[in-house]
Amino acid sequence: MLARIGGVAGLFVTQERHVSKINHDLTLTSFLDYRNSLNLSRFSTLFFCVFIDIYIERRGGMGLFANRMSLIDTEFAFEVGSWVRAIEAGGTRVVKLNIGEPDFNIPEFTKAELKKQIDANNTHYCDPKGVLSFRKAIAKDLGDLRGIKINPEQVVVFPGAKTPISLSAHAYADPGDEIVYPTPGYATYESISKYNGCKPVQLHLKEEKKFSFTPKDLEKLITAKTKLIFFNFPSNPTGASLSKDQMEEIAEIILKKAPPNVRVFSDEIYEHIVFDGTKHVSIASMKGMQAKSIIVSGHSKSYAWTGGRIGYAAFPTVEEANMFKILNINYFSCGCPYNQEAARVTLESPEREAILDRMVQSFKERRDVTVEGLNKISGVSCLKPPATFYVYPNIAGICKNIGAVDFYESLPQEKRGRTSPSTLFQRFLLFRHHTATLDRISFGMIGAEGEHYLRLSVATAMEDLKEGIRRIAVAAEDKKGFQEFVAKGEYLYI
Ligand SMILES: Cc1ncc(COP(=O)(O)O)c(C=O)c1O
Repeated sequence: MLARIGGVAGLFVTQERHVSKINHDLTLTSFLDYRNSLNLSRFSTLFFCVFIDIYIERRGGMGLFANRMSLIDTEFAFEVGSWVRAIEAGGTRVVKLNIGEPDFNIPEFTKAELKKQIDANNTHYCDPKGVLSFRKAIAKDLGDLRGIKINPEQVVVFPGAKTPISLSAHAYADPGDEIVYPTPGYATYESISKYNGCKPVQLHLKEEKKFSFTPKDLEKLITAKTKLIFFNFPSNPTGASLSKDQMEEIAEIILKKAPPNVRVFSDEIYEHIVFDGTKHVSIASMKGMQAKSIIVSGHSKSYAWTGGRIGYAAFPTVEEANMFKILNINYFSCGCPYNQEAARVTLESPEREAILDRMVQSFKERRDVTVEGLNKISGVSCLKPPATFYVYPNIAGICKNIGAVDFYESLPQEKRGRTSPSTLFQRFLLFRHHTATLDRISFGMIGAEGEHYLRLSVATAMEDLKEGIRRIAVAAEDKKGFQEFVAKGEYLYI
């Protein structure tokens, strides 16, 4: 019992208020909320723990899963995918604007190398840090674009760019440490910060600042407990990119204000998908920042290889890279060697630039049509993003006109914690108008209140994009359909 009290008490430092959506009658999360609402001191909390422990004992002991499992979130992009499949299995075609992957296939020369590697039986365990030939190619590729020198021994290969996100939280931050991350931002940053028992600290990306932030915004968030800062430019979901001047000012704040051991996790997975002369700028290229930055990229987006699970990171030191090698060994032994060789060939191919250009040009055309179409819909305003294949329209007008804001505000607090006006419209759009998008809270729950956005992927056929925009316009006017949908009560909450 004492061990359990200790464990529960240890987790209090997270002060997490936004995790009550997994609602058992007495979970750690609702308990944390309750404890927060009582504003108990740590001392009183310990007594409270004893009381709770007796209660749990009387109910027949602890649940199946460890307490921390109630702190992890899902990625809604995958959840929406399964709803889409279920709707389509019933014979209705869905316009899919939800998918975060290019609608291209991997280059022919990548396929040829894959086949060659398999025929050569390169199908066994390999270096857990990543195949050396591939790490050399990555070090050159990342270094050349950023104007820095990277030693292949600083590079580690992972199954996708997502893996180092979670592993970094484990490797650098203890429970109670603070992790700064963008919101709206890739959902894993918030989920993994909470799951790790850290304090999630939101760096708000505001539309009025073109979804960037000022050095002052960041400065206010940095404390002596800041261990990790997640950056993601070009950004999912907003498509924003930062200029060199902005990066320089931000680097200056980090160097001045952050603790010496802080690490900036710079998720640059969209590094090549930039439009209109935008140049990708990495925080690691700023003076003094390579020594603090983890540069992350991979082949899921630039080379349309989401299924290949090719991600990589260049760490500030070889010592850190070796620590992640040990994590790899513990979690999955090593990556797939034949994929790594084919990924190396992709990086080294003289055809690569032309392939990237073709893909980026095609995204740009589709972005232009989508943004123009969305801005014609009453209640929508959409910035033209300089990068990525996402657009992020503000749908505050639709949420108000259709009654989503009023319905949301009429809900009890517990239910409001599990939905939002943009969620209600996104679900209505999917289940009644058969168009799949993602809502604001798919990119961070905490601090999203009052923000009404959808994320649309333009990596889909032009005809589908036009049809999707037409359906959004129809749904935006369908007040009666919306009332019927919410009255039914299905799919409204996470
Ligand atoms: C910002 C960001 N980081 C990481 C990932 C994960 O990439 P991967 O599929 O390589 O794991 C994604 C995927 O959508 C992303 O948008």
